[in-house]
Amino acid sequence: MSKKVLSFLLATAMTASLLAGCAGAAPVATAEAPAAEETQEDAAPAEETAEEPAAEAEATGVKVGVAMPTKDLQRWNQDGSNMQEKLEAAGFEVDLQYASNSVETQVSQIENMINGGCSVLVIASIDGESLGTVLETAKAAGIPVIAYDRLIMQTDAVSYYATFDNYMVGTKQGQYIIDTLDLDNAEGPFTMEVTAGDPGDNNAQFFYNGAMDLLKPYIEAGKIEIKSGQQEFKDVATASWATETAQSRMENILSTYYADGTNLDIALCSNDSTALGVENALAANYTGEYPIVTGQDCDIANVKNMIDGKQSMSIFKDTRTLAEQVVKMVTQILNGEEVEVNDTETYDNGTGVIPSYLCEPVFADINNYKELLIDSGYYTEADLQ
Ligand code: BGC
Repeated sequence: MSKKVLSFLLATAMTASLLAGCAGAAPVATAEAPAAEETQEDAAPAEETAEEPAAEAEATGVKVGVAMPTKDLQRWNQDGSNMQEKLEAAGFEVDLQYASNSVETQVSQIENMINGGCSVLVIASIDGESLGTVLETAKAAGIPVIAYDRLIMQTDAVSYYATFDNYMVGTKQGQYIIDTLDLDNAEGPFTMEVTAGDPGDNNAQFFYNGAMDLLKPYIEAGKIEIKSGQQEFKDVATASWATETAQSRMENILSTYYADGTNLDIALCSNDSTALGVENALAANYTGEYPIVTGQDCDIANVKNMIDGKQSMSIFKDTRTLAEQVVKMVTQILNGEEVEVNDTETYDNGTGVIPSYLCEPVFADINNYKELLIDSGYYTEADLQ
């Protein structure tokens, strides 16, 4: 057995015992990122030199389970395929599964990953509160778990969390509204309706809070009016982030509060799937001046709507960046190296703060989408036609 393979196996065993031994806590991680050079080169087996052929062999046979929520939303397909591509390029075997937004299916997929010998699990949960039991099994087997994009709640089996700064997603949406309407100087009042995300997704509350923390002062001052009176998260949430649910709720609101010619000025939507529902409702039920509509993900349908003037902005979360970071995490964990995180305060899953890496979300609109999405190779021109 080569020294490299031996050290890899030792590191894996160490990681396992570290995890098993730290009841309730995630493995030690520091907020300081290791030197980029060291992290990149030491961590990525793919970058080993020809003199050390163990590089590829090291990861070969090491399987990583990647559990994604659904194929129905564009972003998860991208996340899944980016993860697969990058993990395979680093020499890992990948068990990638999508669960059609069914918690039961996701649980059984994770069970299969554990039984099938996965060394690390990367999980974008459907319902953050529903994985505790299956993850107990992962923990008992010494399998580290990375919560991908969405935090997994109420279980100490989660080692790390990698996501975009979810609160910042909301503040960018809120700030866009403030700037576009010049809320500090304009007289108003402006009307607004809010559409938030799935209550089972921990991110949804962060998006909502980020935007509402900025907008509340204007609501309290009477500069923004919510005609429906629906403002609390529980009243504006959208189960499963479903487009149809957001659409029918907005159709009701429009016919009840805006059918008399009252303009809707702002439709704050937490993400693109809900924004699409709101845009469909506006197309079907509304004849007033078109409102500002916010979104998140830069899904193709929404970017097309942005080009057509039906959506004002979206938040671009480059799934390639997140996948890269998670592959780095997986490699660092398996090599027994310090895992790069940049936030050790924000994300408490009910058992303690989970060391996190937050990528930065970027604001996108009609003026910069070409540069962000096409020049960067995320989409082709044809994708957006
Ligand atoms: C993700 C968003 C996505 C939403 C619906 C959230 O957890 O962070 O990017 O739009 O789920 O899938």
